[in-house]
Amino acid sequence: MLSYLHAFHAGNFADVQKHGALALVQTMMQAKASGIACFDTHAGSAIYDLRGERARKTAEADDGVQKLWSAKDQLRSGDWKPFMEVLSGFNAGSGELSVYPGSPVWFQHFLRAGDALTLFELHPSESEQLAGWASRAPIRVLRQDGLSGLLKQLPPKQPRLLTLIDPSYEIKSDYIEVAETLGKAWQKCRHGVYLVWYPILTSGLQAQLKEAVRRTGVRKVLCSEVHLRNPPERGMVGSGMLVVNPPWGFDSRFAAMMDDVAGSDVLSLSQDLDWLVPE
Ligand SMILES: C[S@@+](CC[C@H](N)C(=O)[O-])C[C@H]1O[C@@H](n2cnc3c(N)ncnc32)[C@H](O)[C@@H]1O
Repeated sequence: MLSYLHAFHAGNFADVQKHGALALVQTMMQAKASGIACFDTHAGSAIYDLRGERARKTAEADDGVQKLWSAKDQLRSGDWKPFMEVLSGFNAGSGELSVYPGSPVWFQHFLRAGDALTLFELHPSESEQLAGWASRAPIRVLRQDGLSGLLKQLPPKQPRLLTLIDPSYEIKSDYIEVAETLGKAWQKCRHGVYLVWYPILTSGLQAQLKEAVRRTGVRKVLCSEVHLRNPPERGMVGSGMLVVNPPWGFDSRFAAMMDDVAGSDVLSLSQDLDWLVPE
């Protein structure tokens, strides 16, 4: 279908949760020196202009990263530091937050010499922009379906694996397909760390994804959900992340990060964090 463009949503509360989790996982994985193969199955275009027409049409970042940015001096968890450093790097000078980095940029920021990054993006203009951004770095951009593409690349050459699965869920069957791909990927690389983002919808479709993940046999699946305190009547009312094989201690550190934004009402969210499937 490919009608979704992330530029309308970049920097919203879901991106804060998703990229906050990604930055923390990468920080924690870097405690060991061995190389990491990173895959971003639905990469988007990498760089988003928060002052651009698309971002201003929805103004979603105003209730997401802009509020976090304004409250940056109140955040208690030190794990927001790398996140804020990435944002500051793109928004030096004026103090205003006008550029928001998408998932490829978060991956690239943490990349070390022995690591590798593969980005999948199917949308023609998004993948063209992505390739333009990535041409400055040793990163592979593949204009392929991210789910089947990922399976072809596993197991990776590097000893460790980090994968973000972040589709736009434009087709209802995506929920089941994501779960089935996760199950197959895990069979090929059981020690890999997999992050799966999903929307929490009034329709409840996300329950299919979680149920299907339970059926795959994948173990050690942490589930973080944030819910809008003032949700719309229809559509997306929250944001969910599954983290398969989270680094030890990730759960409490990520809960503290989300408490900073949810507990203190920076983003007017409530959070739940629990094991969907234990070890
Ligand atoms: C939610 S956005 C990605 C946002 C990005 N991961 C981030 O966090 O900045 C989903 C992206 O997946 C792309 N897409 C849709 N179907 C795809 C497929 N089958 N394979 C790869 N990319 C796809 C869309 O064009 C869109 O850019």
